[in-house]
Parts: sequence; structure tokens; C-alpha cells
Amino acid sequence: MTRVSDSAVDYSRRHLRFGWWSLLCFLTLGFGLELLHGFKVGFYLDVSNETRRLMWTLAHAHGALLGLVHILYALCLRLFPGVAAGSQGPISSSLIGASLLLPGGFFLGGVGFYSGDPGLGILTVPVGATLLVIAVFLIARASAALDGDPGESGQHPGGGKAR
Ligand code: HEM
Repeated sequence: MTRVSDSAVDYSRRHLRFGWWSLLCFLTLGFGLELLHGFKVGFYLDVSNETRRLMWTLAHAHGALLGLVHILYALCLRLFPGVAAGSQGPISSSLIGASLLLPGGFFLGGVGFYSGDPGLGILTVPVGATLLVIAVFLIARASAALDGDPGESGQHPGGGKAR
């Protein structure tokens, strides 16, 4: 039990850190897009560059939302430390991989593009999307094993056993 709780706390810390830093990164990207609008930069706003605008908007939106997913997962691990005890490693790696490959691929797809088609970076997007689906499936499956509230299952927010 202690080992399960300790690893849940470790994973929780990892995803809380990763989530807040990635949220900062992708909100900063949103702020950057805002500046490109403010200064009417053609490199971003010209009709001929609309692929770049779409790709970078998608990178910003998916990156910010995935940052929130990491924070949500970290909070779930604190509330239910026993959840997904055997799958925390694969869930964690899949979520982090998704956060790098999905928005990262959109961003790279907008750096260089070919007459309306995104650049080759876009190829990492389906890989990231698959990792995200795997992580969400594993979390959903693990959540089915929960019965009752954390108090009833003898688990205590923070990772220790309820006293
Ligand atoms: C958790 C926070 C945020 C989320 C989930 C989010 C999500 C999104 C989404 C879904 C879009 C696409 C909207 C559409 O095209 O219909 C978007 C666009 C945009 N966001 Fe955010 N956003 C967040 C925070 C921010 C912040 C803090 C800024 C800037 C200070 C920002 C700047 C922008 C800009 C400039 C666009 C338009 C890009 C364009 O069309 O050229 N966002 N955001």
C-alpha cells in the first residue's frame, strides 16, 4: 500500500510540474500569436500563410488543453492514490509523449509548409494523438475499478493512509 501511494505521489508531482510548465509554454505561444495579430504581421496573417496560422493556433490550443489534462491527472492521483497502480508508468509516458508530439507537430507543421500542406512535422501529430487515446483509455479503465469515495477505500489525499 505504501509503495503504491509513494509512486502515486511521485507521478502526481511529475504531472503537476509538467502540466504547469507546459501551460506556461503554450499560453506564452498564445501571447505570441496575440502580438502577431497586434502588429499585423503578414508572415502569420497573410492569406497565403493561412496554413501557418491554422497550425500554430492548433499547437497553442492543444498544448494549453493538454497542460490542463496533466494537472487534472496529477490531482486524480492525489485523490485516489491507488488508481491505475499497475499502469501509472505507461499512462505517464503516454501523456508526456502526447504533450510533446501533438502540439509540437502542429507547431513544426506551420514553420515550413508547401502550398497549403503543412510541413513534415505534422507527421508526429497522429503518433501523439494515439498516445493520448491510449493514456485516456488506461485512465478510464482504471477509474472503473474505483468504488466509493477516497475515504471509504482507506486512501487519503496526499498519498498516505487515512488515519
Ligand atoms: C487555458 C488557456 C487557453 C486555452 C485552452 C486556449 C484555447 C484556444 C483555442 C481553442 C483557440 C482557437 C479558437 C478558434 O480558432 O476558434 C485559441 C486561439 C487563440 N488564443 Fe488561446 N487559449 C488559452 C489561452 C490564451 C492566452 C492566455 C492567450 C494570449 C494572451 C491566447 C491567445 C490566443 C490567440 C491570439 C488565438 C487566435 C489565434 C489566431 O486565430 O490567429 N490564448 N485559443
